[in-house]
Amino acid sequence: MAIRIIRKDNDPILRKVSKPAEKIDSKIHILLDDMTETMHHADGVGLAAPQIGILKRAIVIDIGEGLIELINPEIIEQSGKQCDVEGCLSLPGESGNVVRPEKVVVKGLNRKGDEVTVEAWDLLARVLCHEIDHLNGILFTDKIQDK
Ligand code: NI
Repeated sequence: MAIRIIRKDNDPILRKVSKPAEKIDSKIHILLDDMTETMHHADGVGLAAPQIGILKRAIVIDIGEGLIELINPEIIEQSGKQCDVEGCLSLPGESGNVVRPEKVVVKGLNRKGDEVTVEAWDLLARVLCHEIDHLNGILFTDKIQDK
């Protein structure tokens, strides 16, 4: 595993749309492992591959309830609304209130290539939405309320 450099601020890679991972191979395992190590090292709760400069649809999340790794994640259901303060490892020093769904259901692949579904509420739903936005070149600052 290795800690990778987190892309920050106006780095244009943060605005690109990532491509689906087509093969689940050792390369993607290394990517996921490095993302997790980088996220933990930076004290973050989530990280998306483009944040370390890789335009692949992969995210890792750890809000203290166990590691979640998702490849090609997609929100298939969402309901309700929540508004809370967000930040991002790519935008140090920035924070603001963002409205997100209260509940989401996300479908994706795990590291074995099996399809998995994650049902999430509250903070986990928020982090899933935030990380999936990264795969589409969207940053939380695009969505801040009252700015
Ligand atoms: Ni972020």
